[in-house]
Amino acid sequence: MLNTILQHIPVMAKEIIGFLDPKPGAIIVDATIGCGGHAELILERITPGGRLIGIDQDEQALACCRESLKAYADSLFLVNDNFRDLERILGPLGINKIDGIIFDLGVSSLQLDTAERGFSIKYDVPLDMRMSKRNQVSAFDLVNNLSVEELSTILKTYGEERFHARIARAIAEQRKKAPVTTTGELAELVIRAQPPHKFQRLHPATRTFQALRIAVNNELDSFDIALKTAVKFLNPGSRLCVLSYHSLEDRIAKHVIRDFEKQGILKRATKKPVRPFQTELAQNPRSRSAKLRVAEKNENS
Ligand SMILES: C[S@@+](CC[C@H](N)C(=O)[O-])C[C@H]1O[C@@H](n2cnc3c(N)ncnc32)[C@H](O)[C@@H]1O
Repeated sequence: MLNTILQHIPVMAKEIIGFLDPKPGAIIVDATIGCGGHAELILERITPGGRLIGIDQDEQALACCRESLKAYADSLFLVNDNFRDLERILGPLGINKIDGIIFDLGVSSLQLDTAERGFSIKYDVPLDMRMSKRNQVSAFDLVNNLSVEELSTILKTYGEERFHARIARAIAEQRKKAPVTTTGELAELVIRAQPPHKFQRLHPATRTFQALRIAVNNELDSFDIALKTAVKFLNPGSRLCVLSYHSLEDRIAKHVIRDFEKQGILKRATKKPVRPFQTELAQNPRSRSAKLRVAEKNENS
């Protein structure tokens, strides 16, 4: 029901609920509550008596949850903050142990489909891409102020963009005439900077947009910090679930989990990342690149 209202289908929901196995009375953290797709399924299972701490740095996401999850108002604690500050978020709520946590990384359908947020190539709007309005730096700032070398590195590292140097040089050339102000201008510039392709599954500017979004929101550093903090808070026997959508996020999850496993603190519940079934891929294109990793806190740690 929620999904039809919000047009957001939670990715790998069945698998996540299966791994988390939330019980009545449990305290669960949804570190990326978005529009509450996974949260609703968790709340159905932890109530009565349980608490869900729903974090999102995006004010718009929380407004959406407040409305759609109002039936669970007594059990839901919404926090408008960056999950990298998990410790500072849970402290004032009097929580020092949790029974599970989920990270569903990246951008939400709500963000992509809200034209003026500037996340999508589909719309020609001012360059923004900030998940939180409190963030001082937007895509406009990066595109118009970074050096060619810095831009090139961002496109290469976060977008795995083959033509990173050409695109960075094209942006710098354009800036000499006038700032690059809209998503449409940037997309055009990226297309012109690349050699023509006969067939491409992705829009030629997809990797550039992804790279800028990751840089604007400092996504990888925040995730690395938050995941390590989450492990400290997990009760023995409880689990963390990470849904990632590109290789850099998945690599962080893999390495952090492996390091804690070596220390005897975590054990993997998924030896390899779990991918969505064909039926989900057919129904929800957003799940296409999803990878799920799950780990459990050891009993003696
Ligand atoms: C893929 S969506 C989550 C969708 C959600 N699981 C659902 O089913 O509706 C990711 C959400 O995480 C939020 N987010 C990303 N990085 C964050 C961070 N560092 N701190 C807090 N929220 C973050 C985004 O604003 C976005 O709303």
